Amino acid sequence: MKSAIYPGSFDPVTFGHLDVIRRAADIFDELTVSVLNNHLKSPLFSVEERVKILEEATKDIPNVKVDSFSGLLIDYAGKKNVHVAIRGLRAITDFEYELQIAQTNHKLSGGKLDTMFLTTSLEYAYLSSSSVKEIASFNGDISMCVPDFVADLIYKKYGHR
Ligand code: PNS
Repeated sequence: MKSAIYPGSFDPVTFGHLDVIRRAADIFDELTVSVLNNHLKSPLFSVEERVKILEEATKDIPNVKVDSFSGLLIDYAGKKNVHVAIRGLRAITDFEYELQIAQTNHKLSGGKLDTMFLTTSLEYAYLSSSSVKEIASFNGDISMCVPDFVADLIYKKYGHR
């Protein structure tokens, strides 16, 4: 069985992430979308909230599981015996950062963890979780960025509607 992990902050999940999730789930038998519990960042949603949101947003894709992890991705992937990490590339600006992480993970894992990049569909290339949060914080329209139930949760966090 071919399995992969799609790690990320997903704070919050956007249509861009969901596009990558759907396409990766078509390629692999099992895809685990895993939320990083990163103590260095102060997220809008807790890890538990992000996991719940992802579960709801992916409930129609049977081979997608949602999980969370702390620490190094290579340790988490090693424990799960998964050898492929999925990452989405929106633009050339993502590439340098992603290449460095992918190469570090490959080296650190002794060649056991490879990264597979999916290029984000053009219609979502402009999307980022940070811009979604910024727009929502000013009560702007984020309906083209995230599913409706996610938009409601984001607006609630900012005290709108
Ligand atoms: O959605 P993000 O914030 O761009 O995701 C970044 C992520 C989660 C892929 C990356 O920060 C990560 O894997 N962190 C876990 C710690 C780790 O393994 N670091 C080594 C790579 S330099």
